[in-house]
Amino acid sequence: MKVLGIETSCDETSVAVVESGARVRSNIVASQVDLHARYGGIVPEVASRHHVERFIPVLREALAIGETTLDEVGLIAVTNRPGLLGALLVGVSAAKALTMALNRPIVAVHHLEGHLYSAFLADCTLHERHPIVALIVSGGHTQLVWMEGYGRYALLGATRDDAAGEAFDKGARLLGLPYPGGPNLSKLAESGDPDRVPFPRGMISEGLDFSFSGLKTALRTFLEKDRGATPLADIAASYEAAIVDVLVTKLRRALQATRVNTACVVGGVAANRLLQRRMKAMAVEEGVHLVMPDPMLCTDNAAMIAAAGYWRYHTCGPDALSFDTLATAPLATFQLT
Ligand code: KG4
Ligand code: ZN
Repeated sequence: MKVLGIETSCDETSVAVVESGARVRSNIVASQVDLHARYGGIVPEVASRHHVERFIPVLREALAIGETTLDEVGLIAVTNRPGLLGALLVGVSAAKALTMALNRPIVAVHHLEGHLYSAFLADCTLHERHPIVALIVSGGHTQLVWMEGYGRYALLGATRDDAAGEAFDKGARLLGLPYPGGPNLSKLAESGDPDRVPFPRGMISEGLDFSFSGLKTALRTFLEKDRGATPLADIAASYEAAIVDVLVTKLRRALQATRVNTACVVGGVAANRLLQRRMKAMAVEEGVHLVMPDPMLCTDNAAMIAAAGYWRYHTCGPDALSFDTLATAPLATFQLT
């Protein structure tokens, strides 16, 4: 079955064609990075307008590269929650219109569920490896999730303030780096000394929750006192190491506490090279099967929505066309006892 995936929850307009939840035929992402760069962050109204302009060309490209006609699409999967409401509504309206025109089933997908299923696109053996401990690290979310199968998610831990991606973006802004902060800070950090500045590792010594707001404040205070004495690359490397240390420590702790031996790290921050290296080393030490998707599948994309949608359809059937679009929505569906 060919699934048409649609993702417009934030600042990427994306359409993909994925076969049977496993084979990506096309995954087109039109980024709005340049548009928002001049404002130093995402402007919701600008994002919505751009989705409207880009949707049809991105859809055409996804079908052409995926060598698929609209008639061959068997299922439509669209992100309906959480995200910027105006941005989400562009993708949801388009998906509903296609569903009516083509008379095909539709499924509404939680954006974070899409991130989880990016790992299944990277390694299909994950389907036989439940339970899985997943670390979701994106611009808006940082969560440790216990996953038992499609739709069976329990929250093990989450950030109490900023998300990991937000910590990267806010740190980059304080360092005077252009938007998008995460990749730019990480690039600068490559030539720096990660041990130069002893930044705090928030809540590292206990539990599975996260806190990154103290790190951001520590960076601001350091920059005020330092007045340009320390090379920016050293500061960036030290700041990046503080975030990565916490993420690696918490995932290791979650794996040890649950005695689970399969893990995945997904979301935009999973594209970070230092995080990939450190997570891989941790997985070897712990004897854990770890999946970290390619960067293209880590940042927002529609292939992950199509993959999650395929499994939703096979587990729960289609959604009614009247489904809602929501700015906020929890991922967890049950509590671990
Ligand atoms: O998953 P995503 O594309 O969008 C959300 O759902 O939020 O994640 C975007 C976040 C941004 O905060 C961005 O700075 C961060 O992922 N990011 C990175 C890297 N690439 C993207 N952070 C650190 N290093 C990177 N290479
Ligand atoms: Zn995302």
